[in-house]
Amino acid sequence: MDSVKNYIQENKDRFIAELIELLKMPSISADAAYSQDVLNTSEAVKDALEKAGCDKVEICETPGYPIVYGEKTIDPALPTVLVYGHYDVQPADPIELWDSDPFEPVIKKTDIHPDGAIFARGACDDKGQMFMHVKALEYMVRNNVLPCNVKFMIEGEEEVGSGSLSWFVKNNHEKLKNDIILISDTGMLANDTPSITTGLRGLSYVEVEVTSANRDLHSGLYGGAVANPINVLTKMIASLHDENNHITIPHFYDKVEELSQAERDEMAKAPFSLEAYKKALDIDAVYGEKGYTTTERASIRPTLDVNGIWGGYTGQGAKTVIPSKAYAKISMRLVPNQDNLEITELFTKHFESIAPAGVRVKVTPHHGGQGYVTPTDTPAYQAAVKACKESFGKEPIPVRSGGSIPIVALFEEELGSKSILLGFGLDSDAIHSPNEHYGIFNFLKGIETIPWFYHYFVNNK
Ligand code: BES
Ligand code: MN
Ligand code: MN
Repeated sequence: MDSVKNYIQENKDRFIAELIELLKMPSISADAAYSQDVLNTSEAVKDALEKAGCDKVEICETPGYPIVYGEKTIDPALPTVLVYGHYDVQPADPIELWDSDPFEPVIKKTDIHPDGAIFARGACDDKGQMFMHVKALEYMVRNNVLPCNVKFMIEGEEEVGSGSLSWFVKNNHEKLKNDIILISDTGMLANDTPSITTGLRGLSYVEVEVTSANRDLHSGLYGGAVANPINVLTKMIASLHDENNHITIPHFYDKVEELSQAERDEMAKAPFSLEAYKKALDIDAVYGEKGYTTTERASIRPTLDVNGIWGGYTGQGAKTVIPSKAYAKISMRLVPNQDNLEITELFTKHFESIAPAGVRVKVTPHHGGQGYVTPTDTPAYQAAVKACKESFGKEPIPVRSGGSIPIVALFEEELGSKSILLGFGLDSDAIHSPNEHYGIFNFLKGIETIPWFYHYFVNNK
């Protein structure tokens, strides 16, 4: 495995060039206008896996976008690592806030990435991170150091809820059989502070609609006498948090796992600067649930956030109107033991119950999923720790993330497999935002770390 550094040095320009080709493909799963691009991207991933040395690669059709499945079996008696990633990306909008075309990747240096970073939608989430696994496989196959069997499962609907992958996993237990799932779709603390993600939050996502009169009304003739659905909706939303920023939905916290003081103390050891955090976001104060630190609020505590709200007149000038309808999209990030379907139901019941007479309320659930915690006392986790020590020369810190990859809990439920979340992105990489980027250092460090994971997983099991 010691040759990995040399291999990367000799091939890095090609690795970057290949990733750039993949990033040029606008595989936006949320927007049907890009469906052909999403399909083309699945073909490109298939080609990449074949070239990297998989013996068998297939495009598996699903009710939605296909799943690219690849495998390299060296000996059925040896363990199998299943790599999961996604080739779809978030929409690029608001496009005017990008400094360069989201699908014409450019390399630029930044303060955090002095070696340069690739700017493009999907650079970090998740094409850049997924591609590290393809190149790590290439290295292991070409240098005869692949120590076990590998399966790849790369989906095209992660950013829209992994609906087809759920179906695929439920129907392919035997095909997907594995000893550990390895995923790079999360982040780490800083380039000189390696960390391994040990938890993900769950998600319940709903859309609400509040209706008053059967048509928009003149706000002079009817104003004051008929419920204004926007006034009502905003009041209802405001009531969902109390003065301490606790969520007011009855039974919302019933199953929340409270961490012990010892666990919280352990978490607090991870380096974090509140000043730097505020500065990076240009805010003068943080905001959140009373009794918890910023790190805790963004990882081990559940949340309720409005993601979008609309209704009424938003065009030019003024229009005096009481709209008939108002809408909002609301997401709740959940922590382990909170069941997303149960939370969606609690939300729906509560939201309906607080609607005043004079309006009708409709709640429509979107996608969701359970949270996940990776046990750290396993050979697989310890292999990831050793791998980071080899590549970074430092002990990685375990970190519970606030983000969600709902399919990870389903992997455990359906396949009985644990997942190792070995991500190399930084919070500042602007995933889902304009100017998303991924550090060249991070990309290459990932390729270097992954073969070490295989090595220690197989040799220390
Ligand atoms: N890769 C992210 C999740 C992530 C990023 C987890 C950084 C931890 C650290 C994933 O692609 C994502 O965006 N997930 C969505 C949920 C999904 C159901 C759309 C999320 O977290 O909002
Ligand atoms: Mn992702
Ligand atoms: Mn994402």
